[in-house]
Amino acid sequence: MPFVRLAEVSQIPAEKSLAVEAGGKKLLICHSKGEFYVVINKCSHADEPLDCGRVRGGWVACPIHGARFSLATGAAMNPPAKEPIQTFPARVVDGWVEAEL
Ligand code: FES
Repeated sequence: MPFVRLAEVSQIPAEKSLAVEAGGKKLLICHSKGEFYVVINKCSHADEPLDCGRVRGGWVACPIHGARFSLATGAAMNPPAKEPIQTFPARVVDGWVEAEL
């Protein structure tokens, strides 16, 4: 699958996120611990959006009930979520965040 250009790195400060849409998917770009991650913008608990959730130390927290997800693996780190969220391979090229969707 080709990588798709999503946003300029300057749009996403450290420990922040940016919601984007690409390839018919709602995505969340997260910038944490010096890395950029791309995950689906939908919590696995009750299908709520994850944007506006806190990003810290390699995880994003759902703003609705507080479940945290590993940005690297998508794994749920605490209740009420049990299932992982989808993650996408991401890279930075020429100052842009790209993901393989
Ligand atoms: S909708 Fe995310 S934890 Fe409930």
